[in-house]
Amino acid sequence: MKKEHNEIILAIETSCDETAAAVIEGGRVIRSNVVASQVESHKRFGGVVPEIASRHHVDQITVIIEEAVEQAGIRLEDLDAVAVTEGPGLIGALLVGVNAAKALAFTLDIPLIGVHHIAGHLYANHLVEPLTFPLVALVVSGGHTELIHMEADGRYEVMGETRDDAVGEAYDKVARTLGLPYPGGPHIDRLAHEGEETLTLPRSWLEAGSFDFSFSGLKSAVINTLHNARQRDEKIPVENLAASFQASVIDVLVDKTIRAVKEKQVNHLIVAGGVAANKGLRAALKDACGREGIQLTIPPLHLCTDNAAMIGAAAHVQYQQSMFSDDRLNGNPGLTLQSKQVQS
Ligand code: KG4
Ligand code: ZN
Repeated sequence: MKKEHNEIILAIETSCDETAAAVIEGGRVIRSNVVASQVESHKRFGGVVPEIASRHHVDQITVIIEEAVEQAGIRLEDLDAVAVTEGPGLIGALLVGVNAAKALAFTLDIPLIGVHHIAGHLYANHLVEPLTFPLVALVVSGGHTELIHMEADGRYEVMGETRDDAVGEAYDKVARTLGLPYPGGPHIDRLAHEGEETLTLPRSWLEAGSFDFSFSGLKSAVINTLHNARQRDEKIPVENLAASFQASVIDVLVDKTIRAVKEKQVNHLIVAGGVAANKGLRAALKDACGREGIQLTIPPLHLCTDNAAMIGAAAHVQYQQSMFSDDRLNGNPGLTLQSKQVQS
């Protein structure tokens, strides 16, 4: 079944509020990468409304796939496989992509590849430069905060993860408290650069040596600070609150990440997920890696946030190992990275 030429994969991503399709050749060449964001429809609710997300995906999916195929300059018959985000994500949203992928794979009689959303975020880095193993990955998205050790393609050892809110979630909740639009991450990032760290907010280090994260205490500290100031009729400039929050987040993320790289004695750090678009985090990681002589890869902004090119890049590894799904593939909100491991 596996072909010798650089395989061409159509990848589909509908796990949250972006309807996306891409055509990837040989795991690294982006022939097309189309993303339709629904953010405008969710904005007035201050977050993603699952039912609205599903409806938008249904509306958009065929148009986006057609656009991806057309922009790639190929015909559907040229495809070697169809890949799709299987989970985690919103079930109704996942199902739209999974069913579109199943229908295409069945009609074209080509392999179907179910991909873990976080594997996609990790492999966004492979689109920038080839991954050199072993490496450590910092995953920072709206749903995940994880440190992952990878010894080879498709091998994932989770070293630490969040015990409560994901970092993107904390950004979005704090932004909402500050009256900023959804998604709040980019707004806090922008304001943080206009303000100063005038407040010392807590750093949640957890037990000595732990690679886990916790952001709900920090989120509550921001909310309490704001609440107390309002009661005393004091004004805290929103830029300074944003700067203080961001400083606390970055301190913990960078410290734990560099410790993880040292513990595993690896020389390559990759960063993944929507919060990897954060300017402050990018600069702090660049500084720290420069000091420590660690090779750092961070995807450009459009490959940090949800897209299908990253799903195609991750699918390449599974294609090479003939790790295919069958027609029982289903959306799986609780899918674990371990269940998609490439066996050594
Ligand atoms: O990876 P992603 O696009 O979707 C998930 O899989 O969750 O991440 C979305 C998250 C949101 O919480 C958004 O606020 C955050 O990424 N984000 C940022 C920035 N850009 C996006 N957070 C902080 N700073 C940014 N510049
Ligand atoms: Zn994501």
